[in-house]
Amino acid sequence: MVKNIKPKKKNRRLITSALPYINNVPHLGHIVGSHLPGDIFARYSRARGYETLYIGGTDENGSTSEIAAFKLNVPIEKFADKLYKEHKKIYDWFEISYDSFSRTSKKIHHETVKEFFETINKKGFIEKNKMKVFYSPTENMFLPDRYVVGECPKCGYPDASGDQCEKCTSVLDPSQLKNPKSTISGGKLEIRETEHLFLKLDSLTPKLKKWIQSNKYFREQVRNLAMGWINEGLKPRCITRDLKHGVKVPLKEFKEKVFYVWFDAPIGYVSSTKEITKDWEKFWKDEKSEVYNFLGKDNIPFHTIFWPGMVIANGEFNLPKNVVGLQYLNYEGQKFSKSKGIGVFCERLPELKLEADVWRHYLTQIIPETSDSEFRWKDFQERVNSDLIGNYANYVNRVLNFIYTKLDRKITKPASKELQEIDKNLLKKIEEKRKSIGDLMERAELRKAYAEILELSSEGNKYINDSEPWNVIKENPKRANNIFYISAFLLKNLAILFAPYLPKTSEKVWKQLNLKGSPSCSGVWEEAEKDFGKEHEINKPELIFKKIEDKEIEEYRKITSQGIDLTELFK
Ligand code: 2FM
Ligand code: ZN
Repeated sequence: MVKNIKPKKKNRRLITSALPYINNVPHLGHIVGSHLPGDIFARYSRARGYETLYIGGTDENGSTSEIAAFKLNVPIEKFADKLYKEHKKIYDWFEISYDSFSRTSKKIHHETVKEFFETINKKGFIEKNKMKVFYSPTENMFLPDRYVVGECPKCGYPDASGDQCEKCTSVLDPSQLKNPKSTISGGKLEIRETEHLFLKLDSLTPKLKKWIQSNKYFREQVRNLAMGWINEGLKPRCITRDLKHGVKVPLKEFKEKVFYVWFDAPIGYVSSTKEITKDWEKFWKDEKSEVYNFLGKDNIPFHTIFWPGMVIANGEFNLPKNVVGLQYLNYEGQKFSKSKGIGVFCERLPELKLEADVWRHYLTQIIPETSDSEFRWKDFQERVNSDLIGNYANYVNRVLNFIYTKLDRKITKPASKELQEIDKNLLKKIEEKRKSIGDLMERAELRKAYAEILELSSEGNKYINDSEPWNVIKENPKRANNIFYISAFLLKNLAILFAPYLPKTSEKVWKQLNLKGSPSCSGVWEEAEKDFGKEHEINKPELIFKKIEDKEIEEYRKITSQGIDLTELFK
């Protein structure tokens, strides 16, 4: 049994992926833009022996879900219950290994937000002030951010919402939008002033700036965006809204208001942790605990300015060690659009009968780590057929089949003096790659690390080609054994390295290699150095993947472009 290795001097890790709004069912852009990278990093952290919690949940407050429920004429609670289940089903299908996947509609969350707010308030970081908000004479109500659409004052994008421009990611105050209109009636809006609460971001600037500038882990574009806002000058940010749906403000004079959704949502990371462990404070407050946030481009300002500002004001929680802000995924050169049938809609994926690992393999290669990336069906087919099948699965088959059929399923450890130059080179390469892959993973450069693992698998194929075991075996069966002892050692290493990306496949390879425990268990990286001992027998090999044909791609494209119509869910 591979025992679970408890972290010795290792820190704890608390990893989060942005809490998705539940106004719709997620598409591939959401998976690749935060859940999958967060999951890979969490699986890797467990494998390295960090005591890890991977935290997520649904962001159910504010106007986004309210509008969606309103349009379907369904009570918000019923709507949210259903959509929560749809989201969870999809993340489970993708093998996203959340330790907690909670909901911001839960009581524990509402209580946590109130406590968090009260601490900030006591410490003097909240002020009252007037804010100009939109009032709709047609609807006879104040209109929350997402009910307002207008032109972005910074980039001119015509469909910016009241609090943010999706295109240039600028965070806006509702009154900054040009030509604002109601998304419900399309009617013109008036501006009125009401009293609100503000987080004094201006007074938090020096500490925020120091944190951003001293952080070694931020990618350049994340740091640059964050410093851009700092340099523009931070202003107090409104944290309340004239809405019914959300977390009530615990002050008498504001009892008719709720918190702004971007005030309560990140606190959801904390309440989701609280929900599963009494030790939640160890993960959030202990200096030996590291927080990592994974999120999409439009969430970067909130995770580098607004939420860290709240954390600094509160004073009790750790600031993130890395904010892994990802860019957008496009679909065949266009933006994902459910109504136009442009994209891959995840609820349809199980119908294709392709393993989740096939998707994880391709999606990893298009994680938009440094710039926007593209999903292309042709590219999907090619990368699956060439890298996953032609390279890795081919290596798995060659190694296991040779041992099973030609070596009577047995490998025996070669004496060191029997090792040839070519063997020593491969063993050295395995060690070097393990180190360089580990370094990349630590910096959350998951795509590059994956490319290195695939490269190591190619090295394995090359080693077999160059060693020509099919010829060697006739004259020198001992040498053939040695070649495959080393090849199987590389395969064991690959199973461990691939496990954060292709968890099910690694399990299969592990079983076929007849190894104990699992390639995903805590601390398993330390097992990678160990060989098979004196003698080892493997299990019967089985094919792990099958090639994707042209006609299948056409079928997949057709099926997945039609996302489920939300009205069907409520029939
Ligand atoms: O953009 C979104 O989908 C937001 N619901 C993300 C929230 S992240 C967090 F802070 F909870
Ligand atoms: Zn803009």
